[in-house]
Amino acid sequence: MAAKKTGKVTATKSAKRVANTPSIASAPIVPSWHVAPDSTRAWKTLKKLSVRGKQAQLRTLFAKDRKRGDTFSANALGIHLDYAKNLIDGVTMDALHALASECGVARHMKAMFAGEHINLTEKRAVLHVALRAPKGAVIKVDGENVVPLVHEVLDRMSAFAQRVRSGSWKGFTGKRIRAVVNIGIGGSDLGPVMAYEALKNFSERDAADRSMVFRFVSNVDGEDFYEKTRDLNPEETLFIVSSKTFTTLETMTNANTARAWSLAKLKNPAAVAKHFVAVSTNAAEVSKFGIDTANMFGFWDWVGGRYSMDSAIGLSTMLAVGPTGFSEMLAGMHDMDEHFRSAPAKKNLPMLMALVGLWNREFMGFGTVAVLPYCQYLSRFSAYLQQLEMESNGKQVQLDGTPVRWETSPVIWGEPGTNGQHAFYQMIHQGTSPVPCDFIAFARPLHDVDVHHDILIANLLAQGEALAFGKTPQEVRAEGTPSWLVPHRTFPGNRPSNTLLCEQLSPRMLGRLIALYEHKVFVQGSIWRVNSFDQWGVELGKVLAKNIIPELSGSAKKPNHDSSTQGLISRYRALRGRAK
Ligand code: F6P
Repeated sequence: MAAKKTGKVTATKSAKRVANTPSIASAPIVPSWHVAPDSTRAWKTLKKLSVRGKQAQLRTLFAKDRKRGDTFSANALGIHLDYAKNLIDGVTMDALHALASECGVARHMKAMFAGEHINLTEKRAVLHVALRAPKGAVIKVDGENVVPLVHEVLDRMSAFAQRVRSGSWKGFTGKRIRAVVNIGIGGSDLGPVMAYEALKNFSERDAADRSMVFRFVSNVDGEDFYEKTRDLNPEETLFIVSSKTFTTLETMTNANTARAWSLAKLKNPAAVAKHFVAVSTNAAEVSKFGIDTANMFGFWDWVGGRYSMDSAIGLSTMLAVGPTGFSEMLAGMHDMDEHFRSAPAKKNLPMLMALVGLWNREFMGFGTVAVLPYCQYLSRFSAYLQQLEMESNGKQVQLDGTPVRWETSPVIWGEPGTNGQHAFYQMIHQGTSPVPCDFIAFARPLHDVDVHHDILIANLLAQGEALAFGKTPQEVRAEGTPSWLVPHRTFPGNRPSNTLLCEQLSPRMLGRLIALYEHKVFVQGSIWRVNSFDQWGVELGKVLAKNIIPELSGSAKKPNHDSSTQGLISRYRALRGRAK
């Protein structure tokens, strides 16, 4: 079987790369072009401009430039970015562009695309862009062209996806697969869930329909596994165990539970081969778990977890939308890669979003960003971006380990409009801390149901307008409002937002949007001079949890915690009826 053969080849190569983990004994050399932002001339200019920016009024800025909407917008790949409702002007934008130049963003981008080891703390290349490079492209990591490896895995995924979707892949008892459960967390979950939700409308392709059920188990909370599997039949269920490392506590706990759940009905360990596949870089651990590496889809250490939804981690996406839909999504990401690489900075969507975001974060002092998609299909987009942005750029030290002297990642949050309007928009409009917003919408809906879409888009436009221009006390009074109520009905306005008005949701458009945000994060991380590709901040909690687990169940000898943690452990044990 060809697939089996290539599977083993891929697994062996992956295993070799894991074994070749570079030494951490020597400190990385930070290239000299990676200058600290606060040492640039542009930074000093921007600090001065921020005094003016903090006093600026969007009402005045719009009155001064009647074409401001055109001046501060850019268009590419079916995406219209309007960033005019930010507290910027031409001088500010020039200074921000100068900052990007002085900070070596272009050089850094070149280094990424060239496969240089820009993930300095882990001494690895960062090449998610290679995952969507077309067949025939050449992208080298340590002298090896990785594009053929990428396409070899994509071909295996396609063959597998076609078999499952057509029903020719049978479960252990001969039934076809009707439910796919992805087990993974973080980057091995958020991208796949987001893409499934975004693209489920496109699953009726390649001779398949929407009858297949997709579930995503991520939380180590057993309730998650219980609820996602309670109505499934093990004979018809395929588990994809997705984990770059294949050691993540949550995922391995869920995977073990899934195996037990399957075998409780299927009885025979040989059934694992028909009901479990793995997506990982770690062939040795996959084997240890009991999954034949022939059923493993590999990727590489140069793909970060939060940048992996277009690698084999996207297997559930491919099963849902078919190989055609998946390759369209990859093509969309590649479109944006090329745009990012080649468009002039002033028309470059990721660059513009990054610079405006950086202005809001550092120079205006806004600590959060709300991502508000006016599209139900993008219901998990903000959750996906939370990891992309906050795990990438939520850092306190520079590449050389010295503390940053500037703000880094804002808090990213959000919900789809119009639901958010009836929940937290009160605070966005009248709270004490302005929240820059990214409004995202598609001009043409996939299902034009009666008047819905115009109402939806009118709401999006109204929110941006209300945030920017507010309502003055005079305007409120002029409506006949009693004076005691005027302060309550006044809207301060002057609150920034971007609007991304896209043509229509499709796998290709989703790919473009994802890559747009990936590259926005890249530019910001580059200017902030942090490593956007490591995540040491998640380690401590993991280690402490491993120590506490036996203390909860009772097998640990001598817990040694602070009085608060110790008290909580004791209370938990008491509530579970365990000895003191
Ligand atoms: O939360 C930390 C993290 O390492 C993420 O970066 C990653 O996406 C996630 O855990 C899952 O890791 P893995 O794919 O190795 O299970």
